[in-house]
Amino acid sequence: MPRVVTLAHYYTQPEIQQMADKVGDSLELSLFARDADADIIVFAGVRFMAETAKILNPNAKVILPDAGSTCSLVTQTDVSALKAWRESYPDHVHVSYINSSAEHKALSDWIVTSRNVDDIIAHLYAEGKKVIFSPDRNMGAYLNFQHGYDMPLWSAVCEVHDKFNQAALDEAFAACTTAKYLIAHPESPLPVLQQADYVGSTSGMLNWIKSFDKEPDAVIFVATEDGILYNMRLARPDLNIEQAPIYAGCQCNSCPYMKMNTIEAVKRAQAGQGTEIDYLSASDMAAARLPIERMLEFSQ
Ligand code: 13P
Ligand code: SF4
Repeated sequence: MPRVVTLAHYYTQPEIQQMADKVGDSLELSLFARDADADIIVFAGVRFMAETAKILNPNAKVILPDAGSTCSLVTQTDVSALKAWRESYPDHVHVSYINSSAEHKALSDWIVTSRNVDDIIAHLYAEGKKVIFSPDRNMGAYLNFQHGYDMPLWSAVCEVHDKFNQAALDEAFAACTTAKYLIAHPESPLPVLQQADYVGSTSGMLNWIKSFDKEPDAVIFVATEDGILYNMRLARPDLNIEQAPIYAGCQCNSCPYMKMNTIEAVKRAQAGQGTEIDYLSASDMAAARLPIERMLEFSQ
C-alpha cells in the first residue's frame, strides 16, 4: 500500500480539513511536505502550494485534487514580463511571495510567506540590500508603509482579499456598540490594513484569536478568506467573530480555487487520481528550490 499524506490549507472547507493529516498555513504545509515520508502527497490547497511540495519532496507523487485550483496572484503575473521587470533592477534582491508559480520562483532570490515576510525583508534591509517585491501589490504596499521601505512592487492582487473595503468597514465599526477589533491578512488593501489591530498569516490570526483576553463582548472582524472562521470559532466559541465587510455588490469572499477541493476530488486524489505535479522542468525545480530553502532555513 502506498503511504498517502493529505495536507489541507485553512481555507478549504471543514470536511476537507477533517480528512487531512495536517492543516496549516503556507509555511507550515511547506515544511510538513518537505519532511513527509510519503509515496503520495495529496495537496488540498492550490497549485502553487502543490508545486512547492513537489520542489521540496521530489521523490513523492504530489497530487492536486482539482486542476483548476490556481490563484489570482499567479494568473495575473506574466512570467516573461516579470523576467524583464526583474532584469531592470540588476542591483536589487528579488523577494517573491510564495503565491507564485515555479517559473516565477526560479526568477527569485528569496521566497517569503505571509508569516516570515516581515522578518526576511527587515533582515535584507539590515544588510544594506535593495529589494524588489512581487507579486502581491497590497502586501508590498503595506511593508513599504509600515517600515518606510522603498521597494518597487509588482502589481498583482489576491482577488479574494482585495474585496475588503475601508468604507464598508467604517460603517460596520460605527454600527457596533461594543468594543471592536480588526485582524487582517496582509493581502488585504492598504487602507484596511492601516486600521487593523493585527496583521498576519492565517496561523498568526488564529493564534491571535486563541489568546484574545480583552472585552468578552467585543466584536472581532476578520479580513481574510471565510474558511478559517470555522477554525477560529472552534477554538474560541465564546467570542463574537465576524467576517469583515467587502465591497457592496461582491457576493462573498470565499476563494473559488480553494473550494474546488471537494470531498470527492480529495478522495480520488488519495486513491492516486487527480492532477499530478509532474510537469515542472528540472531546471525550474532546481532554480526554485534555492530561494525556498533559503527561506526555510531562515524560518527554522
Ligand atoms: P497563508 O500563508 O497565510 O496561509 O496564506 C496563503 C494564502 O493563499 C492567503 O490567501
Ligand atoms: Fe490565491 Fe487569494 Fe485564493 Fe489565497 S485566497 S489562494 S491568494 S486567490
